[in-house]
Amino acid sequence: MAGLYLHIPFCKKRCSYCDFHFVTNFQKHREALILTMSKEIELRKNDLTERIDSIYFGGGTPSLLEKHEFELLLNSISSNYSVGDNIEITIEANPDDCSELKLQDWINLGINRLSIGLQSFKDGELEWMNRSHTTEQGISAVKNAQKAGFSNISIDLIYGLPELNKEEWLISLKNAVALNPSHISAYCLTVEPKTALHKWTSIGRFNPLDEEIQNEQFEDLILFLEKHNYEQYEISNFAKNQSYAKHNTAYWEGKKYLGFGPSAHSYDRINRRWNISNNSVYCKNVGLNSLWYQQEELSKEDQWNELFLTGFRTKWGVNKKSIELLGGLNDSEQKMLSKFISLGLLINTNTSWILTFEGKKQADGLASEMFRLNNN
Ligand SMILES: C[S@@+](CC[C@H](N)C(=O)[O-])C[C@H]1O[C@@H](n2cnc3c(N)ncnc32)[C@H](O)[C@@H]1O
Ligand code: SF4
Repeated sequence: MAGLYLHIPFCKKRCSYCDFHFVTNFQKHREALILTMSKEIELRKNDLTERIDSIYFGGGTPSLLEKHEFELLLNSISSNYSVGDNIEITIEANPDDCSELKLQDWINLGINRLSIGLQSFKDGELEWMNRSHTTEQGISAVKNAQKAGFSNISIDLIYGLPELNKEEWLISLKNAVALNPSHISAYCLTVEPKTALHKWTSIGRFNPLDEEIQNEQFEDLILFLEKHNYEQYEISNFAKNQSYAKHNTAYWEGKKYLGFGPSAHSYDRINRRWNISNNSVYCKNVGLNSLWYQQEELSKEDQWNELFLTGFRTKWGVNKKSIELLGGLNDSEQKMLSKFISLGLLINTNTSWILTFEGKKQADGLASEMFRLNNN
């Protein structure tokens, strides 16, 4: 089982918090970029011969693509890779792109999962984020997608916003649940370098919300969604009736994936590779079939750290067999895990170590306690 990721680096506007790779002046170069991505898909056909079970169009804003652009990329995939019968094909969609016509096109193309970026149910917050849609458009996008026949819909929310209080956050969650999506992803606002938010923070125009309040909102999120039958299967991801995202779950399980397009990452269990985050250099270098990426081999320590970082974030935990294959725990690591267990942060099962509700609140910190330093 393996996955393909396609990065579509176009956006209508620059959201105040976002540091993903994208450009807003894309009309002139979009054709060249999509053709180049289709060439990269073909050039790398021998890098992954396993069956492909998931394709994920991320961004940027994949919902900006026209039907013929999706067709070109999907045809390029089916002619060069072995595609499974039950493939999950996801696109990240912005609400203002979810017209009835586009939704129908996506169904006809075989796209069977939407990740719709609602982010908030308050127009003031959406404006502050510089989003290109209103709350009403967000709600209509989900309802129209359901009417068009999409049963696998995820919505993205952001909490920890500067003026978001407990009551408003609970109202947002109530609104989200009322839409009955099969999946919800909720991320705590982070201030990333080179964003408007970062600039506002440095000049004192924005004060990040107190960490304690952010933690409370995280707790409210878990409790509210669990009460409404959404299972937290990863720190930021919740699913109804086991509608786990196949593609993302494969990442967390360490499965192989190829990433196409500028800034996309690839992984084959030994090497990590990332494409250049510059559209014109990407197009030029793929055209010349000359290095358009950088690559690193993962050391044993990197693989170990990755197992704890991703494992502690999921409901499946850190797999004991995988740890044994890397040589097993030493005494101090064994003691550290015993300490987590005695503090009620970790559960020890026959096959894995899984964080408790309290443990999940500090998942990344606990994982870093288990990190090994590189020897080289
Ligand atoms: C890169 S975006 C792409 C999806 C799509 N373009 C959209 O805006 O909905 C993926 C998700 O990451 C989340 N995200 C991006 N930057 C973030 C930040 N600085 N803090 C919290 N969440 C963030 C948002 O919820 C967003 O929906
Ligand atoms: S959040 Fe989405 S729409 Fe906004 S800039 Fe980032 S990728 Fe583009």
